[in-house]
Amino acid sequence: MANVVVVGAQWGDEGKGKIVDWLSEQADVVVRFQGGHNAGHTLVIGDKVYKLSLLPSGVVRPSKLSVIGNGVVLDPHALAAEVERLSEQGVSISRDNLRVAENATLILSIHRELDALRESGSAGTKIGTTKRGIGPAYEDKVGRRAIRLMDLADLPSLREKIDRLLTHHNALRRGFGLDEFKPEEIYEELASVAPKVLPYMDAVWRLLDDERRAGKRILFEGAQGALLDVDHGTYPFVTSSNTVAGQAATGSGLGPGGVGYVLGIAKAYTTRVGEGPFPTELHDETGELIGRKGKEFGVVTGRKRRCGWFDATLVRQTVRTSGIDGIALTKLDILDGFETIKIGVGYRLDGQTIDYFPASQGAQGRVEPIYEEFEGWSGSTAGARSWADLPAQAVKYVRRIEELIGAPVAVLSTSPEREDTILMKNPFEG
Ligand code: IMP
Repeated sequence: MANVVVVGAQWGDEGKGKIVDWLSEQADVVVRFQGGHNAGHTLVIGDKVYKLSLLPSGVVRPSKLSVIGNGVVLDPHALAAEVERLSEQGVSISRDNLRVAENATLILSIHRELDALRESGSAGTKIGTTKRGIGPAYEDKVGRRAIRLMDLADLPSLREKIDRLLTHHNALRRGFGLDEFKPEEIYEELASVAPKVLPYMDAVWRLLDDERRAGKRILFEGAQGALLDVDHGTYPFVTSSNTVAGQAATGSGLGPGGVGYVLGIAKAYTTRVGEGPFPTELHDETGELIGRKGKEFGVVTGRKRRCGWFDATLVRQTVRTSGIDGIALTKLDILDGFETIKIGVGYRLDGQTIDYFPASQGAQGRVEPIYEEFEGWSGSTAGARSWADLPAQAVKYVRRIEELIGAPVAVLSTSPEREDTILMKNPFEG
């Protein structure tokens, strides 16, 4: 029996929520392994709508164990607030169904402030971040000065750790001409939130290994998308974590052998929020129309998403960097009624044709997409539940995508409704 990792195969917002929710129903354990509350998932279960940022999607279902792994950066206030919000909606959260890695790095108010300061343009390149403090917290992690969840359980030594952290941050603050942080304020902030988050703390690596050995089904829930990966994405316009599937192992403490089937989620077109290169972006009425039909606004920040055609070259690359076994293709119905549809199949760069997305920032900004043009379909794909329900041209479009990206479409999603799905392969069945 395979475990399953779900990763976004583009720049995030591929519609992971619906797919992860469907898979979490079949899973025993659902694990977040990177990112933080920069993610946003909307789950619709029956007549209830749940908005999740930090908690794994399994949390809204009884008898599922939700796990936040060490690869996540954890804002303790955001966790406490999300738990409270869900409790108000009738979801009960306790140590019985939620565990958080003791070695997860904490996001503090100093990280949120620094993120916002940099994004204000007065201090460095604007990335278009979610201003949740994600990047600064990861910086402190690799800088070996972060405060981690377990540190909240040892308040006497916490003061020392805060002093070390502030040696770095206050030097930065002085450089920006800002007031220094007072260690006492950070200490109070942490000491007051500690009782709300410590009950969930655990050695998650051990727990997951036990669950795996007991034959439980584990679902790893990726956030953002592979093109926002700090190594493999459109650097520096990326998030600060590894978002590719390999991170499921590192970010949870379960070895790579426990990871299993990799399901990539891709939209039938492309979107991106924030700054950075986007070769198939549409700056015209067609792009506006896709955005309107697809309701392309961010769950977390409400920002309008940039829209463009499906870029097969990029997805082929993420299929490889994440070892994607199959794709869940979402939002095909948004392309219903378009007279012509294009797919990016390669790039022209400085007079040459290339079949991959180059790593250099300059080249990423200069590539021009080469398109294959398709006749659209006049019928509707919305709500289709079998191949026979799809217009012939839509089937042709999907088949061409499979050929170009080098991976099969395992799941085709034709509306936000859970039942409006065509299933070719259940990822949990290997
Ligand atoms: P950060 O993760 O807040 O540092 O933002 C870095 C980049 O990742 C920005 O372009 C964000 O718009 C993007 N990003 C972060 N989280 C998400 C997400 O959940 N969906 C889509 N883009 C995201």
